[in-house]
Amino acid sequence: MKAGLFLLAVFAALVACNDAAVFQNPAARVNMAQGTYWPGDRLLHSSYYSKTAIPNAVQYQDITYRGNSTVRITFLEAVEVGATQWGTPSLWAGGVGFNYTTIRLTSARGYGYYYLVRIYGR
Ligand SMILES: *[C@@H]1O[C@H](CO)[C@@H](O)[C@H](O)[C@H]1NC(C)=O
Ligand SMILES: *[C@@H]1O[C@H](CO)[C@@H](O)[C@H](O)[C@H]1NC(C)=O
Repeated sequence: MKAGLFLLAVFAALVACNDAAVFQNPAARVNMAQGTYWPGDRLLHSSYYSKTAIPNAVQYQDITYRGNSTVRITFLEAVEVGATQWGTPSLWAGGVGFNYTTIRLTSARGYGYYYLVRIYGR
């Protein structure tokens, strides 16, 4: 129980430091979204990313999308799938208004993660 409260505090701090729009649901799941999906936007990228837990390790992965010069990203999201493992998605580069983006998925120490990352644009 105490460990759980400590983790909550750590994630609250991480979220506060993040420039991207990050929101938490009551179960302390951390998803990430930026921009607005408009009807007619095309799905540019959609993939699931997962890692299995490694004891005492923090794992991360950068997902980079590069569109051509006419592509403008309008909306992107990283949504955790299944029971929360307290990972943290964050925006590292580009994003809405750009033709590229890098999203970093970071696990909690000793946990894995399972995210669906979607990028829309026009
Ligand atoms: C992304 O857009 C920039 C600015 O319009 C352009 O210079 C660059 O070539 C584009 N990237 C790709 C891979 O086309
Ligand atoms: C740029 O990429 C988009 C999305 O993949 C594609 O629909 C479009 O035809 C491409 N445009 C050019 C000029 O290659």
